[in-house]
Amino acid sequence: MTDGNPVRLAVLVSGNGTNLQAVIDRIASGGINATIACVISNRRDAFALKRAEKHNIPAIIHESSAYANRREYDAVLVDMLRDHGVALVVLAGFMRILTDVMVTAFPHAIMNIHPALLPAFPGLHAQKQALDYGVRFTGCTVHFVDGGTDTGPILLQAVVPVLEDDTEEKLAARIQHEEHRIYPEAIHLFCAGKFSVDGRRVRLSP
Ligand code: GRF
Repeated sequence: MTDGNPVRLAVLVSGNGTNLQAVIDRIASGGINATIACVISNRRDAFALKRAEKHNIPAIIHESSAYANRREYDAVLVDMLRDHGVALVVLAGFMRILTDVMVTAFPHAIMNIHPALLPAFPGLHAQKQALDYGVRFTGCTVHFVDGGTDTGPILLQAVVPVLEDDTEEKLAARIQHEEHRIYPEAIHLFCAGKFSVDGRRVRLSP
């Protein structure tokens, strides 16, 4: 990671791709020593694919329908990532749970962003979960991916207050604003070799 060469990233998407865009923009401004080797989507209608094409990033559609199960899908995904020389896999709204096939192929080299302060409110509809529970603060979490759902070691978090008149949509928008700040930052720190994993704790060197 610290040999000075740009780290080769894959960004995995299913939807709009605003986090992909934030990473593209931060790389373009010189803020991350990385290059996006490919964007992979499990959905052919993902707007994120258009963002990739606009920036001349190889965009791959990898749909699940051709595969008997999630492990077979992941085995082909691993091959694609290896073919592109990927060192860090960035999940950016990728709506699939990864199997052990992916997780063991890229230990501590798959990141995800989740729209809550983990371990609170894992899984789907995290913003609604936070509103329904009545917390005063929620936020977002960048974490490594392990075998569980949103359970891996935590890299960075940002806090977002819940306001009196919040709806799920308003809260989600304010959380996304923070996502677009901390996800590129976490990728930058990873690419600069600043993270080391110590059990559940991720140490950040100065
Ligand atoms: C983000 O809000 C993130 O928290 C969740 O999926 C969403 C993806 O949004 N994991 P986008 O496709 O990056 O706009």
